[in-house]
Amino acid sequence: MIAITIAEPGGPDVLRPVDAPLPKPSTREVLIRVAAAGVNRPDLMQREGKYPPPPGASEVPGLEIAGTISACGPGVERWREGDRVCALVSGGGYAEYCVAPDVQCLPLPSTLDPIAAAGVPETFFTVWANVFERGRLREGESLLVHGGSSGIGTTAIQMARAFGARVFATAGSADKCRACERLGAERAINYRTQDFATIVTELTNGRGVDVILDMVGGAYFSRNVESLALDGRLLQIALLGGAKAEINLLHLLRRRLTITGSTLRARTVAEKGAIAGALERAVWPLIESKKVLPLIYATFPLKQAAEAHRLMESGSHIGKIVLTV
Ligand SMILES: NC(=O)c1ccc[n+]([C@@H]2O[C@H](COP(=O)([O-])OP(=O)(O)OC[C@H]3O[C@@H](n4cnc5c(N)ncnc54)[C@H](OP(=O)(O)O)[C@@H]3O)[C@@H](O)[C@H]2O)c1
Repeated sequence: MIAITIAEPGGPDVLRPVDAPLPKPSTREVLIRVAAAGVNRPDLMQREGKYPPPPGASEVPGLEIAGTISACGPGVERWREGDRVCALVSGGGYAEYCVAPDVQCLPLPSTLDPIAAAGVPETFFTVWANVFERGRLREGESLLVHGGSSGIGTTAIQMARAFGARVFATAGSADKCRACERLGAERAINYRTQDFATIVTELTNGRGVDVILDMVGGAYFSRNVESLALDGRLLQIALLGGAKAEINLLHLLRRRLTITGSTLRARTVAEKGAIAGALERAVWPLIESKKVLPLIYATFPLKQAAEAHRLMESGSHIGKIVLTV
């Protein structure tokens, strides 16, 4: 099969199509003939050598796929050859075939083609595990989503709206802000021209928001803490703006704040399977009724993975970039 390898750590040109052996599904794994694979920012970090695959994972990049099951390993009960699925994988997605643990597969929703479905797992698992499980966002509460036009952000805005939350977002251009508002954000703040903490305070009459989903960290951290309401929760999922920050800890005590973070890839198969189960129960019906849909910005043939990475690095995309096989 054709797979994309990382010849050496570096820029997009190190992504090369090569002939690779067909992976073999082990116990409770399925082999999927990939129709499309989502591109995620962690893939860029892996390509640069800054995010090595966890032990046992494929060296081939790619964290999410959609396609058709072509073989089942021992012990697989739910799936059969020919089933159309999307799956979260811990690597190996940029290829014609990829193995996935059976519990990390979900049925292809009837409202999505494989290209759209390939843009679902990584962001939906991440948003669910953080905003709804760790962050316990409830109907009637408010959420601030940083990077609102990212793959993660466009998913978080729609899901939070569908569950009845008030949503604010930040993004780096007027166009991106408009896209966030079209997806359901009550107000998107252009962080290049406005201070989000001031605006959030105004919009919530000084109360602050209940939950913040942040991928920036660094200089955002203290302003995030200032923007949280009593019992507020900050979910840190990436550190694009830096890993070091300083805050006034008094805010934590006075407003009983919770600061937490997580990475999806390092979770066990059982934990990812539990997230998949929750998504199928709570979110799949919202995809079926088109209340929540992945926003696909661009597609590239698998062999042009380098072009897809260049686009993501340019930061001009809104939503997801997907490779087609
Ligand atoms: N923890 C986890 O489990 C987990 C899982 C998946 C992804 N992630 C992380 O989530 C982030 C989004 O992933 P993605 O695949 O959705 O990527 P993406 O679509 O490329 O989004 C990155 C976003 O970050 C914003 N951004 C970049 N640098 C910024 C800065 N210095 N200040 C403010 N905003 C900045 C960009 O928006 P603007 O143009 O508006 O600046 C862009 O929307 C990535 O950092 C990724 O590593 C974490």
